[in-house]
Amino acid sequence: MVRIIGILIGLFFSGWLLISAGMGAVEYISNPPAKTAEQLFLEEPKEVSYTSDGPLGKFDRQQLQRGFQVYKEVCSACHSLRLVAFRNLEEIGYNEDEVKAIAANWSIGVPDADPNTGEMTTRPGLPADKFPLPFANDIAARAANNNAIPPDLSLMTKAREGGAPYVYSLLTGYTDPPANLPDANKPGPGLHYNPYFATLNLAMAPPLAVADQVSYSDGTKASIDQMSKDVSAFLIWTAEPKLEARHQAGWAVLAFLLIATILAYLSYRTIWADVKAEKKKKIS
Ligand code: HEC
Repeated sequence: MVRIIGILIGLFFSGWLLISAGMGAVEYISNPPAKTAEQLFLEEPKEVSYTSDGPLGKFDRQQLQRGFQVYKEVCSACHSLRLVAFRNLEEIGYNEDEVKAIAANWSIGVPDADPNTGEMTTRPGLPADKFPLPFANDIAARAANNNAIPPDLSLMTKAREGGAPYVYSLLTGYTDPPANLPDANKPGPGLHYNPYFATLNLAMAPPLAVADQVSYSDGTKASIDQMSKDVSAFLIWTAEPKLEARHQAGWAVLAFLLIATILAYLSYRTIWADVKAEKKKKIS
């Protein structure tokens, strides 16, 4: 008797659950939840190709130098590159003297203690120094940037889904908000509409706003598009300076595996050669 009552109660509850699940599903299908403005207006990063793409990709050092110039003259006013040292620039084609000069002439000094008084001062940069931070701390960074902290760019192309094309799209993607954008999603004071940014509005004013904002020494025309491509390519390098070595190691490993497979197959043939020959003899 107790068992039957137990079964009945179980059936009752499972029936209840089934019915409510079914009703929920019907409700969801007949009356789907409204899409958020982000879902409607957010755009996928644009298609853009870099010489470092693909398994054979290599950096275009000329482009990386142009990208560095854009970082130095524009982005470094707000964004740090805390994982990169001046001497790393030798990897993108600057020689030792050029690196020394870049470090010594950097617009922000490196924090240091005065050897006599112990008070904090700054000194000119040295090749071994990391790029100095543009703001003393997060509070100063927020105060200067409409309450948003400009993130460090060292690993940006790895940190964001979309990588370098995302950075490129963000830089070239500023537009006027579309007319049908809900009021709640219109850019507030100090914010700028950009359909590539997750919340559609960001606190960074378009940093590359006019052509020829930097003047390239290699004669490349500094259109907004070109500068954005170059600086995003430079950020691929800062995030993965050993990309070329990784690509090469990949091919070396594949070649090794291929040779090892052939050798293994040949030795298999040699080792079993006698056994096979005997087997054949027995059968015939
Ligand atoms: C005047 C200061 C300023 C300058 C100059 C500037 N940025 Fe920014 N940047 C910001 C601020 C502030 C944010 C944070 C925005 C936010 O979270 O709303 C930001 C955010 C970003 C982001 C992150 C977006 C994300 O997904 O979180 C990237 C990438 C970026 N900037 C790249 C650049 C590049 C490249 C340059 C140089 C061409 C540059 N910025 C120049 C202030 C600046």
